[in-house]
Amino acid sequence: MSKTSHHNQDVQDSDGKFSWLYSNTVKEHFFHPKNIQLKDPKLKEFNGVGTVGSPACGDVMTIWIQVDPKTKRLKKCTWRTFGCASAIASTSMLSVMVTRRGGMKISEAEKLTPQDILKELGGLPPRKVHCSVLGDQALRAAIEDYKNSKKTQK
Ligand code: FES
Repeated sequence: MSKTSHHNQDVQDSDGKFSWLYSNTVKEHFFHPKNIQLKDPKLKEFNGVGTVGSPACGDVMTIWIQVDPKTKRLKKCTWRTFGCASAIASTSMLSVMVTRRGGMKISEAEKLTPQDILKELGGLPPRKVHCSVLGDQALRAAIEDYKNSKKTQK
């Protein structure tokens, strides 16, 4: 990276070449997103869904979850977004974090913060941090939806 690099740019021209400020982990999740939901899910495939928009950029994110009603663990977490590379990478990472090792309990998933996602990603450029909030908020909305639908079933 050149000494004259501008740290407020995500992709920049240095010495006539393009270099990226994204970590390798971010790039891996952007180019090979995990758990992306390209087709509309089938009825009953999931038991929670949440959609949120980002006031910072106007992008939208939907997350679908499948919670095991007995263990309250997240068995599946898929997502779709109009958001940017950072939103794709951070939500891909989030979906992996909440479903690995048999799935996180929803009570634990609710405690996750965008900072936890950033840590696993190896950081994001500062003005892209809001993109990781999108997935975090959509997951919270999906968990709320799961809890509310449980209440109405009673
Ligand atoms: Fe909108 Fe990243 S700029 S999600």
